Amino acid sequence: MTHLVLELVRPYRGWLIIVFVAMLIETAMSIAAPWPLKIIIDNVVGKHKLPEFLGWLRDFSYGEHTLALAGVAAGGAVLIALIGAIAGYIDNYYTESVAQYVANDLRQRLYHHLHRLSLKYYDTHKIGNMLSTITSDVGTIQSFASTALLSILVDALTIVGMVFVMLYLNFDFALIAVGVTPFLLLFVARFKKAVKKATHEVRKRQSDIVAVVQEGLESVRSVKAFGRQDLEEGRLREASMETVQAALKARRVKSLLSPIVSVTVSLCVAIVLWRGAGLILRDAMTIGALTVFLSYLNKFFKPVQDLAKMTNVIAQAAVGLERIQTILDADAIIPQKPGARDPGKLQGEIVFEHVAFAYDPAAPVLRDINLTIQPGQRIGVCGPTGGGKSTVLSLIPRFYDPTLGRVLIDGVAVTDYRLDRLREQIGFVLQDTVLFAGSIRDNIAYGRPEATPEEIIQAAKMANAHDFISEMPHGYDSLVGERGLTLSGGQRQRIGIARAIVRNAPILILDEPTAALDTESEKLVMEALERLMKGRTVITIAHRLSTIRDADKIVVLKGGLIAEEGTHEELLTRNRIYAELYRIQAGATPAPKATAGAADSGPAAGLSPGTS
Ligand SMILES: Nc1ncnc2c1ncn2[C@@H]1O[C@H](COP(=O)(O)OP(=O)(O)O)[C@@H](O)[C@H]1O
Ligand SMILES: [Mg+2]
Repeated sequence: MTHLVLELVRPYRGWLIIVFVAMLIETAMSIAAPWPLKIIIDNVVGKHKLPEFLGWLRDFSYGEHTLALAGVAAGGAVLIALIGAIAGYIDNYYTESVAQYVANDLRQRLYHHLHRLSLKYYDTHKIGNMLSTITSDVGTIQSFASTALLSILVDALTIVGMVFVMLYLNFDFALIAVGVTPFLLLFVARFKKAVKKATHEVRKRQSDIVAVVQEGLESVRSVKAFGRQDLEEGRLREASMETVQAALKARRVKSLLSPIVSVTVSLCVAIVLWRGAGLILRDAMTIGALTVFLSYLNKFFKPVQDLAKMTNVIAQAAVGLERIQTILDADAIIPQKPGARDPGKLQGEIVFEHVAFAYDPAAPVLRDINLTIQPGQRIGVCGPTGGGKSTVLSLIPRFYDPTLGRVLIDGVAVTDYRLDRLREQIGFVLQDTVLFAGSIRDNIAYGRPEATPEEIIQAAKMANAHDFISEMPHGYDSLVGERGLTLSGGQRQRIGIARAIVRNAPILILDEPTAALDTESEKLVMEALERLMKGRTVITIAHRLSTIRDADKIVVLKGGLIAEEGTHEELLTRNRIYAELYRIQAGATPAPKATAGAADSGPAAGLSPGTS
C-alpha cells in the first residue's frame, strides 16, 4: 500500500519539498509562540536575566530591564504569528494542490484499469461498488491528504521540537510532563484498529447503497412495468438501515477515545501545576518557564487529541486506499503475449478447435466445439436459450478465453494477435444497440472516430437510417440520451448497423439483431443487414430461424456441443432438432384460424406455440 502512495506522490516531489520547508517554518513558529510571554513575565516584569541565546535582544532594546524589551517581545509575537501564517498558507495551498492532482491521477488510473479488466471481473463485481470507489474512496483520500495529513505532520514535528525545549528548560520536570505520552499513544494506536474495522464496515454498507440505487434506477422501466417500486425501496431501506447501524457502532467505539484522552491530559496538567508551584516557590524555576510549559502541554496533547479525533479520517482514508488497491490489484486482464502480432486486414477464416469454456468451473457451458468457417461464409447459429450461443461468439474477440482448446483466425490463434488490433477486425450488432450520450454522428462513428462526414452519411443510408435521422430537428447533430431512450428499438438497431458499416470489419457478429423488433422494423433492419453483410464473414445468432435460413451453414448448439451442422435443406432432410424447431416456428405461419389482421405476424408467432 505504501508502494502505491509513493508512486502516486512521486510526480509532485517539488511541491512536497516546498510543503516540507513551509511546515518546518510553521513548526518553529509554533514552538516559539509562547516565548514573548515568557520574556515579558521573567525578564520585563520578573527582572531575571535574558537567557544566553537571547542575549542579542539587548541590542534592540537598549538594555534588558526597560519597557523597550516588552515592545520587542510584543513585536516578536506579531512577527512569529505572521511568519507562521505565511508558512501555513503556503503549505496549505501546496498540499491541496498535491491532494487534488493525486486524486485526479487516481481516478484516471482506476478507470483505465477497470476498462482493461475482462468481462469476467464484471460478472462477479457490482458496478455500484466500483462507482463508489472511484468517487467516494478517492474523495476521502483527497480530503485526508489535504486536511488531516498536513496537520498530523505539523503536530508530530511540533511535539518533537517542544520536547527538546522542555528538556532544556527543566529536565526532570519535562520527563514528568511527557512521561504519560507513550501510554497515551499506545492506547490510541490500539483504538485505531477497532475504529478502522468499524469504518471498513461503514464504507462497505455505503457502497452497497450506491449499488442498490444504481441497479434500481438503471432498470427503472422494468421496476415500473412490474410495479415493484416497493421491493426496490425495501432494498434501499435495508441497505440504508445497515449503514445507520454500522455508522452508529463505529461512532460508539470512536466516542470513547476523546474523553479518555481529555481526562488523562487534565491529570497531567494538574501534576505540572502542583509540582511547578513548588519549584517556583523554591526558586528552582521561573514563572515564565511554567507558562511556557503549560502552553506547550496544551499544544502537546492537542496532536494526541487530534489524532484521537482524526482516527476517523485516518481510518476512512486507509480503508479507501485498501479498496482502491483491491481494484488495482484485480488482474482479471485478458493477457496479451509479448510478441503479439498485428493481424493486418484479416481474411476472416475462423476455426474452433476442441473449445471448452465455463464461467463457473462447476457448470461447463461449452464442452467441445469444433467448427470451421470459411472467409466470406455466412453462418447461422441457433439452439435453445442458454445453450451457449452468445458465449461461443464472445470467444472470437476474446471477451473471454477458452478453458480448453483454441480459436484461430486465418490460421493463427487469437491469443497470438494484439488484442486491440484483433477487436478492430470484428464488427458487432447485438440484440440491443446501446447509444452513448452524444450526437447521432458521434454514435455512428463510435467504432472509428476518424470516419469522414460523407462516410457516416453513406453508412446511415445503407443502414436505412438516413431518412429518420434527416427528419430529426438537428439531423446528424441531434443528441441522444445516455441510453438513446428517445429512439425506438428499430431505429437504434439501424444506428448500430451504420456503426458496424463505418467500422468496416471483415468479421461480423450478429447476436439476435432483430429479436426485439416488430415485423415492420425487422424488414428495414434485415434489408440494412443484408447490405452490411456483403463481403464479410458473418455469424448470426437467431431465434427466428427465418433470419438464418439462407446461411451457408447452420449450426445447432445444444448442451455445450454442436448438435447439428449443415444447410437449411440438409438439416430439414436430417429431420432432427433443427427440423423440429423449424416446423414449430413455421407451423404458425399460415395461422389456420387467423383473421386478416394477424396474418402478417409471420414466423414470430411461433415463439409462443401454445397459443394455437
Ligand atoms: N457472464 C456470465 N456469467 C456466468 N454465467 C453466464 C454468463 N453469461 C452466460 N452465462 C451462462 O452460460 C450459459 C450460456 O449462456 P449464453 O451463451 O448467453 O446462451 P445463449 O446465448 O445461447 O442464450 C447460460 O447457462 C448462462 O446462464
Ligand atoms: Mg444469447
